Amino acid sequence: MIIEPRMRGFICLTAHPKGCEQNVINQINYIKSKGAINGPKKVLVIGASTGFGLASRITSAFGSGAATIGVYFEKPPKEGKTASPGWYNTAAFETEAQKAGLYAKSINGDAFSNEVKAQTIDLIKADLGQIDLVIYSLASPVRTNPKTGITHRSVLKPIGGTFTDKTVDFHTGIVSEVSIEPANEEEIENTVAVMGGEDWEMWIDALKEAGVLADGFTTVAYSYIGPAVTEAVYRKGTIGRAKDHLEATAFTITDKLKDINGKGYVSVNKALVTQASSAIPVIPLYISLLYKIMKAEGIHEGCIEQIQRLYQDRLYTSGAVPVDEKGRIRIDDWEMREDVQSRVIKLWKGATTETLPAIGDLAGYKTDFLNLFGFDIAGVDYQADVNEVVDIPGLV
Ligand code: NAI
Ligand code: NA
Repeated sequence: MIIEPRMRGFICLTAHPKGCEQNVINQINYIKSKGAINGPKKVLVIGASTGFGLASRITSAFGSGAATIGVYFEKPPKEGKTASPGWYNTAAFETEAQKAGLYAKSINGDAFSNEVKAQTIDLIKADLGQIDLVIYSLASPVRTNPKTGITHRSVLKPIGGTFTDKTVDFHTGIVSEVSIEPANEEEIENTVAVMGGEDWEMWIDALKEAGVLADGFTTVAYSYIGPAVTEAVYRKGTIGRAKDHLEATAFTITDKLKDINGKGYVSVNKALVTQASSAIPVIPLYISLLYKIMKAEGIHEGCIEQIQRLYQDRLYTSGAVPVDEKGRIRIDDWEMREDVQSRVIKLWKGATTETLPAIGDLAGYKTDFLNLFGFDIAGVDYQADVNEVVDIPGLV
C-alpha cells in the first residue's frame, strides 16, 4: 500500500516501513563512520525499539560488535494497517545485524511484567550465558506493578502550584499560554511508580538472581534535567520526582552489585524529539529554540550522536567513568552550556506564533517528528507501493 502520515494529537497513527528502515540504516552508518568502540559484548536493551534505546542497541552492535537482545512494546502490522514505528525499526535493525553476523533477538511484550523478565532470562541463558550491559530506556505512561497488581498512570504536572507559561502546538505552529494545575500526592506517587527506578531495580534483581550478570557488569538508565524554563513541569514536577527516584536507584543497584564488581549509572541526556518528549507540554517550544541555537553552533546531536558519545567518551574510555557531583553521567553538557542556555532564555521571552518560525527551529522539530514514524526521510520513495506486513527476524 501507499502509506502517508495520519496525525492525531501528539501521535502519528501510521508508520512507513521503508522510512523506518532508512532511519536505522542511517544510524548504523553513523556509528560505523565513528570507528570501533572497545565496549560491551553481550547487551540487553530494555526499551530497544525507538529513541535512545534503539540508538543504544545500534551503538552496542555496530560500534563494538555486541550481541544484543531487545525488549520493547510495539504494535505488529496487519494487512492494511501499519505497525508502530518501533516494530519496523527493530525489523530493520535485526536484519542488518544478522547480515553483519551479529546475534540479535528480541521480545515484544510488557517489560514491567514478571513474564517478560522470565522470558528474557531464559533467552539469555540459552543463547548468551551472561551479559555485561543492560540499558534501561523505557518511556511509558502506564505500569502495572507485578507484585501488587496495581496499575499506575503517570501525569505530567507541576508540584505545589499552578504552572502557567508558553507552549507551542508544533503541528500548527501556534504559540499559546498553557496552565497546568498541580498534581496531588497520589498523582506524584503514581508517576514515580511508572517512571522511577522500581522496575529497573526489579530487572537487575531478577537478572542477578538468575546468575546471568557477568563480573564487571554495568547498567545505565536515562534521565533528564533541563533548563529553568521547563523546570516547573519537568524536573520539579511529577516526572522530575520519578527521575529523582531513578537516579537514587542507580546507587541502590551499585550497592547490590558489589560482589560482582557491577555498577549502576544514570546518564543525563539531551532534550530530543521522541514520541515520549513530544507529549510533554512546553518541551516542544524549548526544543525548537534549543535546536536553532545548537545547530547554529554546530553542536546539535540526535539520539545516535548522543549515545555514541556516551559509549566512546564516558562509559568505555580506558579510565574511570566521568560523573557529576551527584554521580550522574552528563551527555547533556552541550545543551546545558551557559552560552546556549542564556540565548534560549532570551529567545523564549520573544517567542510568539509570529516570531517562532524565524527564531526557533520549528521546521526541524516537525521533520524530526515525522522521521520518528519513517516519514520525510531522504532517499525514500513515498509514492511506491510498500508491503506493510514486515517480520522481525529475531523476534522470539
Ligand atoms: P521512546 O518513546 O522513543 O522509547 C520508549 C521505549 O520503551 C520504546 O522502545 C518502547 O517500545 C518501550 N516501551 C514502552 N513501554 C513499554 C513496556 N511496557 N514494555 C516494554 N517496552 C516498553 O522514548 P525515549 O525518549 O527514547 O525515552 C527513553 C528514556 O530516555 C526515558 O527514560 C526518557 O525519560 C529518557 N530521556 C528522554 C529524553 C528526550 O528528550 N526524549 C531526554 C533525556 C532522557
Ligand atoms: Na528508548
